[in-house]
Amino acid sequence: MEKVLGGLEDLPGPNRGFMFDLPNEEILPLSKEHVFYTWSAQASVNPIAVKRAKGVYFWDVDDKRYLDFNSMTMCVNIGHGDERVIRAMQAQTAELPYAAPGMTTKIRALASKAVADVTPRQALTKVLFTLGGADANENAIKLARGYTGRHKILTRYRSYHGATAGAMAATGDPRRLVWEPNLMTGVVHFLDPYRYRSTFHRTTPGIPEEEFARDYINHLEEVIQYEGPETIAAILMESVTGTNGIIIPPQGYMQGVRGLCDKYGIVMVADEVMSGFGRTGKWFAVEHWDVVPDMITMAKGLTSAYAPLGAVAMKPEIAAAFNETPFESGLTYTSHPISLAAAVANINVMREDKIVEHAAGMGPVLKRMLTDLGEAHPSVGEVRSIGLFGILELVKDRDTKEPMAPWNGSSREMTALKKYCLDHGLFLYTHWHTVLIIPPLIITEEQLKEGFGVLDKALDITDKAII
Ligand SMILES: Cc1ncc(COP(=O)(O)O)c(C=O)c1O
Repeated sequence: MEKVLGGLEDLPGPNRGFMFDLPNEEILPLSKEHVFYTWSAQASVNPIAVKRAKGVYFWDVDDKRYLDFNSMTMCVNIGHGDERVIRAMQAQTAELPYAAPGMTTKIRALASKAVADVTPRQALTKVLFTLGGADANENAIKLARGYTGRHKILTRYRSYHGATAGAMAATGDPRRLVWEPNLMTGVVHFLDPYRYRSTFHRTTPGIPEEEFARDYINHLEEVIQYEGPETIAAILMESVTGTNGIIIPPQGYMQGVRGLCDKYGIVMVADEVMSGFGRTGKWFAVEHWDVVPDMITMAKGLTSAYAPLGAVAMKPEIAAAFNETPFESGLTYTSHPISLAAAVANINVMREDKIVEHAAGMGPVLKRMLTDLGEAHPSVGEVRSIGLFGILELVKDRDTKEPMAPWNGSSREMTALKKYCLDHGLFLYTHWHTVLIIPPLIITEEQLKEGFGVLDKALDITDKAII
């Protein structure tokens, strides 16, 4: 194991491991007794007890090694255990671990500049820091409403925007349903340009990409008309849909959305919580279509999860709307210095190591591996990827596209596939009938091959379910 400077073993005599001592075998039972897990039925929780992590791997308490094909929660973009980030956080903790929201600090000045500098055309010059992605979206919604004086928010059905009440209302996917009707009002959903299962194009699947995009822009404009453009504050969408399918916008789509926002005075908000910070081979995914949104929400890769942090970067005119009128909202931990130190160091690491460029270079490698796997396994209906953001859609029948697990459900086959991967040291995320490939951006071709080797065997399980 590589030594992490400033770890517990470096603490002086009496402080050595002072309050963190717990034998490995007690971690799991103690957690099961006291931890309340999110997104889980408590009785069926069986967590991996993680002990350490480095690069693209992590190890459990029994020293079993896992290849991390999901960057933990699609967030450890620069990989695990980077000492440059750890040291920056340690130094910030020693210097000043906290300052009040109305104050400023050296790290706050540097971090807001560092974020503004990586936004498309450096056009989003003002930055509001939050604790994560959900509250970044909450704040973007408030900013858009304040700026426009309108209340409706348009989002897509295949979207996830976070688990707080407003972000959950904005979310289109079924995670929203259990909490209805007690969520934020004013959200209207529309359809995603999802080519593999396009409602509009069942009989014209070969339609050229730009016409396909045009149909979905027309659909969106129709929704805008029905809702009344003068009531719509923002269109909020993931630039590349994440958990709901790695749906990559067709050529012309993003530009079309930008055009509609300009035409009707609607604020365009790109949720880049998952797709940002190099994931797609650009700092932000919208850059693939040369579109500058009015706001970008971000989290995850912003610090590569070395500390919790989210942000809303906005155009100066949006911030200026609050020059005389206060922005009536806040967070005790906005701009937390330790998180900001992680962000600045993370951005520096991404620049120094050319991580965005590496992700872009690995994009075709991942695409080829996905395509080869798809050709070898009849249960793969389609593969899609952009940068190091990939997915396999598993089906029981390639003609009917019947999914390997139902909408918002799981199946014996998907559960068995995931178990096989975990048993063989491959950690990845499965969602309904899909398998997501979202590794740390430092991954090499060899390491990708290692994971795909396991996946290749695991897909024999789903192949057996072919009708
Ligand atoms: C696109 C997107 N937006 C928002 C969020 C919410 O972020 P957080 O969990 O940090 O609140 C997520 C989390 O997965 C996400 O993927």
